Amino acid sequence: MIYNINKIRLDFPILKKRINKKRIIYLDNASTSQKPKIVIKNQTKFYKNYYSSVNRSIYTLSNINSNKIEEIRIKISKFINAKSPEEIIFTNNSTESLNFLAYSLTKNINKNDNIIISIIEHHSNIIPWYLISKKINYKLKIIKINKKGFININDLKKKINKNTKIISITHISNVLGIKNPIKKIIKIAKKKNILTIIDGSQAISHIKINVQKINCDFYIFSGHKIYAPTGTGILYCKKKNLNNLNIWKSGGGIIANINIKKYKINNIQFINSPWKFESGTLNIESIIGLGDAINYINKIGIKNIINYEKKIIKYTLNKLKNIPEIIIYGSKKKISIISFNVKNNHCYDIGMLLNQNGIFIRTGNQCAIPTMKLYNISGICRLSIAMYTSKKDINTFIYVLKKIINLKK
Ligand code: ALA
Repeated sequence: MIYNINKIRLDFPILKKRINKKRIIYLDNASTSQKPKIVIKNQTKFYKNYYSSVNRSIYTLSNINSNKIEEIRIKISKFINAKSPEEIIFTNNSTESLNFLAYSLTKNINKNDNIIISIIEHHSNIIPWYLISKKINYKLKIIKINKKGFININDLKKKINKNTKIISITHISNVLGIKNPIKKIIKIAKKKNILTIIDGSQAISHIKINVQKINCDFYIFSGHKIYAPTGTGILYCKKKNLNNLNIWKSGGGIIANINIKKYKINNIQFINSPWKFESGTLNIESIIGLGDAINYINKIGIKNIINYEKKIIKYTLNKLKNIPEIIIYGSKKKISIISFNVKNNHCYDIGMLLNQNGIFIRTGNQCAIPTMKLYNISGICRLSIAMYTSKKDINTFIYVLKKIINLKK
């Protein structure tokens, strides 16, 4: 199949927009991605024709939507090659999935145990573990990265001991854009019966995810980074672990029975997994949007997207490497993300000047202050691509960046 970038770009209406007469060049896809027409159109269609709650009533609209949500659960399980749709739990985003796991899994962990994360995690994969470690008193161990920015396997091996219960790490760093050796790490963990959690937030739309091959216990990601509306997160949980998960968030929609005797709760029976982990009204329209986004990705073909993005990131790197004032962080083996600074310039100044030219990147600490401190910086300019990023976008970005650098000399 020929990857027709011009045709793909037509599917994303925002890319045609101009702000202050400048064409939008959107290079902040690691924060969130833009939405294709089909997702946008079907959201309106849903509100106009089908809107209702799910899993609570027997009337026609509710049945249609309840069935639709389960069809999308199946679609997601196929997208990441889970064994069964029952391994898919809907949350609101990656942050919530990680909080869910931190609160739910650590209930059975005591003060002699330890949990391992890495120094390059997003705050979402640091703070929940830290806050709970303060309550339960388990040890939170943090592994180093090597010179190129990959998780240091030797340090991991050193830090694992018989009390290590969980390893929670990122698949692709949201700062360095490099893919960690997760298969190696999971193999090490499996030998010691350690649960593994992979934060796939920056991986899900840029590499093929096969959770059975990866063999992790949990894999998490957000829908809004794969062309779906905001407000959906996915928590993949290997079937055998479903029974080890405690209910983290409780309330309506998950109760099979509750017995109260003499005004005291006697017992509660919950419905089955995964539904018992989804209390409260789901973000129905966003889940429907996630289904549409996955259909769209499947239509283009994830392999085609991966091949195209590889070329674009290589093209960008080569251009950036030729600018002497640019510092690029981490290994040059990048997937979709390049973080850089311009020597002797603050990232906010660069970001502001790019913005004046219609070029949108993320600037600042990237919700990864420990990573910033490793590199002795307070912030960074982060460029991140998506399936619709064109060579023209990159050429304009490079042209403007060079102009900014010359202006500031
Ligand atoms: N997690 C998102 C990022 O790294 C918001 O930008």
